[in-house]
Amino acid sequence: MRPRILVVYYSQTGQLRQILDSVVTDIKEKADIDYAVIEPVTPFPFPWTALQFFDAMPETVAHLPAAVKPLPQAVVNKDYDLVIFGYQPWFLNPSQPTTAFLQSELAKIFKGKPVVTVVGCRNMWLHAQEKVKGYLDGLGAHLAGNIVLTDTNPNLVSLLTVIRWSFKGQKSASGLLPAAGVQDEDIAAASRFGKTIYQHLADDNLLDLQRSLLAQGAISLKPGLVMLEQSGIKRFRFWSGFIREKGGPGDSARASRVMMFKNLLLVGIFILSPITNTVALIKLAIKRNSLLKDVEYFRQVAYQEGRI
Ligand SMILES: Cc1cc2nc3c(=O)[nH]c(=O)nc-3n(C[C@H](O)[C@H](O)[C@H](O)COP(=O)(O)O)c2cc1C
Repeated sequence: MRPRILVVYYSQTGQLRQILDSVVTDIKEKADIDYAVIEPVTPFPFPWTALQFFDAMPETVAHLPAAVKPLPQAVVNKDYDLVIFGYQPWFLNPSQPTTAFLQSELAKIFKGKPVVTVVGCRNMWLHAQEKVKGYLDGLGAHLAGNIVLTDTNPNLVSLLTVIRWSFKGQKSASGLLPAAGVQDEDIAAASRFGKTIYQHLADDNLLDLQRSLLAQGAISLKPGLVMLEQSGIKRFRFWSGFIREKGGPGDSARASRVMMFKNLLLVGIFILSPITNTVALIKLAIKRNSLLKDVEYFRQVAYQEGRI
């Protein structure tokens, strides 16, 4: 029998949809594939103003997301053999529509199902994935695989291009800067993962899927990212609470705190980053062994609460 696969995802610009299309492109003839799109009740703006963008941080980090629309009944009532769950991090957490979906009644579609997560992001996804693992665990799903596609340009370059993309809507290359987002060739090459997923499903061997995906380069992870996310998430949590003291999303009473957060974040990234990078290199040398253990954990699908 043809395996039944559900692809469920949110994508603001369509990048993640492109990635997911590529993942399933070579198995479309062999499997019965349905798509379900997660849609916020009120769409997030695109392009964003700086205030709108950074005003989304407090609720994203606090897991207090804006609501999403229901899925079609046909999808909710069908029995799938596997769910491919596509999402993107926002501020080191699952994007608001992703969290809203995972917290809602709709997430019962995951119960008892094997799930493969597919992440399309700039390059910081560890904490978000741990949160998604936690939700899936609570829902009684079995995380069988994780594939992460990132922008492989140097960190500051990808930051500049993501800013140009988010605030001007321009993804294409201009001046000295390359195109924003995940590289086209990496998106096209993601079709190799679909074949592996299909084979493991057909062989009833999903327990071994992540090993095969890793052998195909499904995750590339440097120890420095673990440290960067650990310190970043602590700061985001502080600012999330500090801004929410002044009101909810869009409240003008909190705008000055939101802009303060934005300015400090940009100063931290662009001006202090040579210093923080040097400190990070020293810490990396000292903590190398424990960070390498962390890297091994984050490449896997097992879930241990509180790892980051
Ligand atoms: C509000 C916001 C916050 C983001 N935060 C992160 C982040 O913490 N880490 C990261 O790697 N990418 C981050 N990104 C990039 C997204 O993960 C994603 O790659 C991009 O928005 C395109 O995804 P799409 O498929 O929804 O269009 C952020 C994007 C937005 C809009």
